[in-house]
Amino acid sequence: MKVIDNKESLQKWRASSADEVGFVPTMGNLHRGHLSLVERSMSDNDTTVVSIFINPTQFGPGEDYGSYPRTLERDLQILDELAANFKDKHLVVFAPRTNEEIYENDFQTKVVVNSHLTKILCAKTRPSHFEGVTTVVSLLFNLVSPKRAYFGKKDYQQLKTIERMVSDLELPIEIVGMEIIREEDGLALSSRNQYLSEGQRAQALELRNTLVELKRNYSSDFDFESFKFRYCGQPGWEYLEIYSASELLPVTASDSKIVALGALKVGKTRLIDNIEI
Ligand code: PAJ
Repeated sequence: MKVIDNKESLQKWRASSADEVGFVPTMGNLHRGHLSLVERSMSDNDTTVVSIFINPTQFGPGEDYGSYPRTLERDLQILDELAANFKDKHLVVFAPRTNEEIYENDFQTKVVVNSHLTKILCAKTRPSHFEGVTTVVSLLFNLVSPKRAYFGKKDYQQLKTIERMVSDLELPIEIVGMEIIREEDGLALSSRNQYLSEGQRAQALELRNTLVELKRNYSSDFDFESFKFRYCGQPGWEYLEIYSASELLPVTASDSKIVALGALKVGKTRLIDNIEI
């Protein structure tokens, strides 16, 4: 495994490598969800790049940028162990040592997907979040020049926004959407789960359980508004919505696949999850 901590060395390495590259962008504090993406990339590609960068521009004022778990040593160790299972493959970790490595002093560009995708769901409470994501992901795509990039369905709205950016800009990158990895009781793995106390950890299951219940009840004449009224009365619910799975548009009779997405705040911790129906 090779670790690179600055942009220039990454560019040099990339220019010298003729391999097709698989790319897994992360903010570190790696768990089995992230590792499922890395493993898939390592089986699909000769070389995989994992980036570890806590991107300040996707956090809003008052959000958890300052307290986001920073566990680089441990992350590198986990990746090194994982790489040992893929003998003939290469793993490169790009962990920029400062924010300025990514955003140089006079950085003035934003990449914005200007559609409903960045105005609904999470964007209602995190209005500049997705432009922070698309800007940093474009920049990373340019540095890494991947053939394929791997994103989790855990962040469904993010996945759809990136797919749209790649398609609009004709970027020659295949976006691979990966299934959500969960704890045994169904809670989706997230770096933010560790903020939860024991009691809150139990409360957090309400998000997953409600989505499962929705899927169980869903039918062509499903009354979504009364479901919401019945299940999402408790404070803490930020949203529960259903959309077409392909583009997150309002559900119509012709949609064969829909997705239900929810956000629940437990104490100060904001959790998101979704289920395909
Ligand atoms: P981060 O939250 O670290 O997530 C990195 C990738 O791991 C994302 O594609 C996310 O969807 C995926 N992931 C997280 N939890 C998962 C789970 N339980 N199962 C499957 N996949 C999971 O998402 C980001 O970082 C950032 O926004 C980033 C894309 C790196 C841009 O800064």
